[in-house]
Amino acid sequence: MYYESLLQSMLPAQDLRGPAMKDEPAFYRRLEEAMDVHRQKRSLMCLKPRWDSSVADYTTSDFLSLNRSGKIRDAFYEELKSQGSFELSASGSRVQYGNYDYLLQVEREIAAFHGAETAFICHSGFFANVGILEGVPQPGDAIVMDEFSHASTRLGLKVTLAAHKLEFKHNNLDSFREVMTSLKSKDPAFASGDKSILICVESIYSMEGDICPLRELVSIAKELYPAGNAQFVIDEAHSTGVLGQNGAGLVSVLGLEKEIAIRVHMCSKALSSTGGVILCNQTIRSALVQYARCLTYSGAPSVPMIASIRAGYNLFRSGQTVEPQETIQRHVKHFFTKLLDDPRWQDAMDEGLIAVPLAEDWEEREYHSHIVAVKISGGHEFALFVHLLMLNMNAYPISYPTVPKGTGLVRCLIHAHNTIEDIDRLVEAIGDWSEEMLEIQRGDSKSTVPSALRRAMGLQASGWKEN
Ligand SMILES: Cc1ncc(COP(=O)(O)O)c(C=O)c1O
Repeated sequence: MYYESLLQSMLPAQDLRGPAMKDEPAFYRRLEEAMDVHRQKRSLMCLKPRWDSSVADYTTSDFLSLNRSGKIRDAFYEELKSQGSFELSASGSRVQYGNYDYLLQVEREIAAFHGAETAFICHSGFFANVGILEGVPQPGDAIVMDEFSHASTRLGLKVTLAAHKLEFKHNNLDSFREVMTSLKSKDPAFASGDKSILICVESIYSMEGDICPLRELVSIAKELYPAGNAQFVIDEAHSTGVLGQNGAGLVSVLGLEKEIAIRVHMCSKALSSTGGVILCNQTIRSALVQYARCLTYSGAPSVPMIASIRAGYNLFRSGQTVEPQETIQRHVKHFFTKLLDDPRWQDAMDEGLIAVPLAEDWEEREYHSHIVAVKISGGHEFALFVHLLMLNMNAYPISYPTVPKGTGLVRCLIHAHNTIEDIDRLVEAIGDWSEEMLEIQRGDSKSTVPSALRRAMGLQASGWKEN
């Protein structure tokens, strides 16, 4: 079973290494000691073995199932064949030899698909975000970001020329207004329009799964800064392929193409390829080329990479992803209906063991995110993860520092390849676990450790031999 190989790689990775390294070179010992801090909290990240389709998947970024169905592979082969005897490598950066016609053509097609002036393809969405913060803000400018912004945006803060870096409370309009207003007193050049503000948001937040109130944020920014010196960059990593007509993203759903200066679409998720696409106007494209060293002091994407991105966009454009996109919406609605009908979930929510903010008022929302965060109190997210894993379901636990201190969650990603029965099993399993945990918490159980975790710990102690 998959759980054995996963736990066998995850659990030993948490054993402390520093104490046994007294006589080793100090260079390596110090690194191990630094990692021991995470091991002590059983939160050291490790590389995990891959699983196959026998495991119910609530984790991968193959939301539309283009990867596991082979659809993207077939489209890719066809696309590559159409390129004849191509030169594989770009053989240079975009500002040197690497700016080839095929790349430019695919960028024009993608820009047209999203209704943008230009598109710029780079190696990853991560570097797209870093490059934007490196290349767009000028000295003295400001960056204002949602507190739940992705690690790539946070890394961008370390290389940006912006003088002011401020966060507003997650998806909170009052906090956004307050932070944006505060810039006026920090430097009068913001009010006069002589310095600019770049606002970083995400269409669907990767951990909480909630959607950005983009229209409202835009209207506040325009009201406070009528000179147009406050502009947005939106990370559409999770909405690409999932929201909007043919998966064009949140900005497209809201018809805000003209209002949003920069959109970043990631090809590593629903599109099932790799790479980042920066949608922007010609001014920003030129600024990226001039100032974003992490985008231009690097070899340009190769022909196979561009072919796989074009293959994915061809699937979007031709309507072949509409059905899986709709399936995800149906599944998410089923998930909410089922969990709200289960009295054990209700008890666990009432007693504060779990919370599913997105299940509240779900019927009032027009469209849904495929990420459903099941928030867990008391640091029990690993226990729920093990419970699900032992039932052959994979939904990862997320703890600090990926989410704020004192919080934890199990992140359930709903895919087109999950079945209604899979969703039912998931809801049932979390219900069973919650019931058991509530018994433990009320003191009605002989054990203080839930049964699946006990079993996993027993297996580890016995050298992974099942009785
Ligand atoms: C919100 C968000 N932004 C950026 C990235 C990075 O994208 P890529 O995989 O293309 O580097 C991710 C992927 O984990 C993400 O979830």
